Amino acid sequence: MDLGIRNKKVIVTAASKGIGYATAKRFLEEGAHVLISSHDEQKLLDAYNKLKDIGDVYYLKADLRSIEEIKNLILKGNEILNGIDVFVYVAGSPKPGNLFELTDNDWEEGFKLLLMSAVVSIREVSKFMKNNGRIILSTSISIKQPLENLDLSNVIRLSLAGLIKSVSNQLAHKGILVNGVIPGWTLTERVDQLVKDRSRRENRSESDIINDIVKDVPLGRMALPEEVANVIIFLASELSTYITGALIPVDGGYIKATF
Ligand SMILES: NC(=O)c1ccc[n+]([C@@H]2O[C@H](COP(=O)([O-])OP(=O)(O)OC[C@H]3O[C@@H](n4cnc5c(N)ncnc54)[C@H](OP(=O)(O)O)[C@@H]3O)[C@@H](O)[C@H]2O)c1
Repeated sequence: MDLGIRNKKVIVTAASKGIGYATAKRFLEEGAHVLISSHDEQKLLDAYNKLKDIGDVYYLKADLRSIEEIKNLILKGNEILNGIDVFVYVAGSPKPGNLFELTDNDWEEGFKLLLMSAVVSIREVSKFMKNNGRIILSTSISIKQPLENLDLSNVIRLSLAGLIKSVSNQLAHKGILVNGVIPGWTLTERVDQLVKDRSRRENRSESDIINDIVKDVPLGRMALPEEVANVIIFLASELSTYITGALIPVDGGYIKATF
């Protein structure tokens, strides 16, 4: 099926690993021109080397905590790709901890990583994006249901819901659709590491730890990063022309609330 993604010019942030990487790979498989970005140049280069045989891929380092680096990514990205049709925002993972453990500096860093990065990205990218452009933000189930020991995500990411709704209204007249996806537990390298660490600490098998996590997921398993990427692809595709300001869970039913 032609999704209308061939030759689209796409930027994906936090794309050296995990959800961002899987998303960039899916866009390449659909024939898009893709610029990947992350804050570790070596990991970014490793990702680029894995992707370059699939399609037309470029890379540019940008630390999402730096406003200047985000502006540079979008300015240069627009030059490299000769336009931007789709911007996929994925963030790095915030530091774990609760209110009583996190320092003032942790909150400031969390604010830069999880909120200012999205604000600046959307503002800058919308200067270049034209009619039928797509801005897609990957968030977290924490915006619907607080996660234990992840207060930075629970508190700061919640603002992305307001941002997506506000900006979708403001950009509608330009024909730009702005949406979010809400990934649930997704089996990325980071989660794999988390499972391994917990298995060592608690002296339990990895499958035991995974079972513990997925007991709250009605579908009974974690998502593959590609399953999150597929929903992002849908939102970027010509199958999705009348959805804006939406937040779509890809969580296997994890979120308990009706709305
Ligand atoms: N996996 C899950 O279960 C899950 C569920 C809900 C939400 N999420 C959220 O989804 C996002 C991606 O998660 P993931 O599991 O795919 O993580 P991951 O596999 O650890 O990948 C994280 C990506 O973020 C990049 N990154 C880290 N800090 C950055 C920074 N300051 N600036 C730019 N890029 C940065 C990393 O690249 P470099 O190290 O190369 O810079 C890497 O490409 C995170 O925000 C996470 O909290 C994950």
